[in-house]
Order: sequence, then structure tokens, then C-alpha cells
Amino acid sequence: MQTRRMALLCRHCGTEPMAANRNISRSACSRALATRVMKVAGFSRRGNPSAGLRPALGLRERPRRYLQLRVLADIVDRIAWKAMQPIDDVVEHYERTREADRLFSGPGQLERVRTQEIITRHLLPPPAQILDVGGGPGVYARWLLHEGYEVDLVDPVGSHVEAATRTFREERLPGRALRGDARRLDAEIASYDAVLLLGPLYHLPERCDRIQALLEVGRVLRPGGIAFLAAISRFASLLDGFARGFVRDPEFLRILTRDLSDGQHRNAANTDYFTTSFFHKPEEFEAEIREAGFELQLLAGVEGPFWCINSFPELWDDASMRGLLLDFARQAESEPSLLGASAHWLAVVRTPA
Ligand SMILES: C[S@@+](CC[C@H](N)C(=O)[O-])C[C@H]1O[C@@H](n2cnc3c(N)ncnc32)[C@H](O)[C@@H]1O
Repeated sequence: MQTRRMALLCRHCGTEPMAANRNISRSACSRALATRVMKVAGFSRRGNPSAGLRPALGLRERPRRYLQLRVLADIVDRIAWKAMQPIDDVVEHYERTREADRLFSGPGQLERVRTQEIITRHLLPPPAQILDVGGGPGVYARWLLHEGYEVDLVDPVGSHVEAATRTFREERLPGRALRGDARRLDAEIASYDAVLLLGPLYHLPERCDRIQALLEVGRVLRPGGIAFLAAISRFASLLDGFARGFVRDPEFLRILTRDLSDGQHRNAANTDYFTTSFFHKPEEFEAEIREAGFELQLLAGVEGPFWCINSFPELWDDASMRGLLLDFARQAESEPSLLGASAHWLAVVRTPA
């Protein structure tokens, strides 16, 4: 039993069942390998590729060897950095869909209102510095800037960064939007009071990449800082597939079968069926949060079961029914037996003070 388990683990980082996608696995492994090579060579790596190489004690006295090792470490670091470029499918998906509109129509509205409600309940009052990682076109960043927070946004999709920059400029908001990846944030250690990670965790199919993104959140947060982490339920496609009739399509059924078996969502065909993702079970999400050293304060279902009901549009358009629906979503948010029925979850976590 022990031998079989060992055989599934990554040869280099030793943490990850790597069977899901061989290309991505190789990338993840090369990064782990780079870290090890640099450790052996006497370097530590942190932050961006050019900033993070430091000579180990004693190497200053041996300049030639130091230079050789530095060149080696630089090469390996570049390979690792390249391996950490965002997944093409994900970037292509967001370049051709309208993410900016998603949270203002259909059940996206429920997701937005509930996400804002949970964030408001836990966030310290302004002014505070917030990093919105995977912030997309800036819906939450814009809201927080209007509330008086200082917000920086990072996203790997060029059109998202442009859209967020345009919004900040047009509305004279002091926000900044930059290209970047959750696994390697170009931010100083302990430089933010709060981090939003609403997207990257489900778009990183490899567990070690998700842990890396969580460690980055921990690194840039001040002691006692707070983070809001989004995940998608393992059962989201099942519910959506029947609610919207996608299950009539054999291609969707193939995607759904894999979603349910290992959480790995792959869609080469249809925009409606989303893009490369990992869909969590609650216990998997909680284990990753713990492994990254966070204290879990809340794991909440964002929409509850209401996002996929047929009567959602009429209920949402009726102010009293909308209030009722939001009340029940709030009351049931931490009920473990209902978590799987909510499309999104929000974990509220803290770094030790
Ligand atoms: C569903 S959108 C959510 C956008 C926004 N956070 C929101 O909740 O409205 C997911 C976002 O995650 C971003 N993303 C995907 N992979 C990422 C990664 N490795 N690092 C940072 N962001 C990533 C995507 O570009 C996209 O903007």
C-alpha cells in the first residue's frame, strides 16, 4: 500500500499525485527541481526571478565559484519561471469571454452580493491595503476602492488588466492593475493587510501549484492578515449540467464524468462548459488551507443551492423574494451537508498574528 502511494508522488517535490496532466506535471516538477538545485548551490529564491538570488554564507570569498553557481541558478530559475506561466487554456478562455459582465447577470449577481457580504463581515475598516490576486477585470477591486481601501490587482490575462486599469482611470480610483501569477507574486513580504484570491485556486489543477499560491498569499500578508479564498464545488458541473440541459451533450457527459471522479475539469470544445480547472471537495480545500499554515475562520457556501434553480431569475427580480433567498443562503452558509450544492465557496483565513 505504502509503495503504491509513493509511486504516485512527484519525484522532485514529493508532495503531489501527478497523474492528471502530464505537461503540467512536468512544469510543476521542473519548478521543484529548480528550487532544489538552487538550495544545493547555496541560494534561496523568493519574489521575482531577478530579485531572489542570494549568495550563501562563505561564497563571497570565492567569486569565481559564486559566479558559476549564480549563472547556473539563473538558468534554472528562468526555466522554473517559464514553467510557471499561466495555463494557455485559461488565458484563452478569458480572452474570448466577457468576465466583466458575469457578476451582473443571472446567478452571478447572487455570487457577487454574497461574496461582498462575507468580505464586508470580516474585513477591517478602511484604510487598509488589499491585494486582489486573479482579480479579473476588477469588479471587487473597484468596489473596495470606492469603499476607501487601497487596492492592487494582479491577473495573468492582458484584457483583464487593461479593463481594470481603464475602470480605475475613468473613475479616478487610486488602484493599480498588473500582469502576474498567483504562484509568484511580485510583492514584498508582509506588505498587505488582506488578500483576495477569488479564482486562481480553481484554475490551478496541480495541488502543489495551489499550495504555492497559498504560500504566496501568506508571504505577502502582514502577521494577523486576512485572506478570502474561493473554490468551486466538485458537484457544480453536475448541478449546472442538469439545470441547463448540458447533459444531453455526450461531450459534456465526458467532462462531467471526469469532474466527479477526480475534480479535474478539462474542456476543449465549448465556452459554456468553462475551462481548465480543479473542483474541490470541502475536505481537500480545508487540507490545502491547513498545509499552507493558515487558520481557517469560515468555510462558507456562497450561493447555497439557489444558483441552479429554474425560478432563480423571477425570485431575484422580486425584491422581497431576493431578500428571503439571501437570508436563507446566509443562514445555511456553513452547513457542511449543503456545501457541495453551492457552486462557489469562500474560505476566510488568517495568518498567525
Ligand atoms: C472566474 S475569474 C474571477 C475574477 C475575479 N476574481 C472575480 O471573482 O470576479 C478567475 C480569474 O482568475 C485568474 N487566474 C487564473 N489563473 C491564475 C493564476 N495562476 N494566477 C492569477 N490569476 C489567475 C483569471 O485570469 C481570472 O481573471
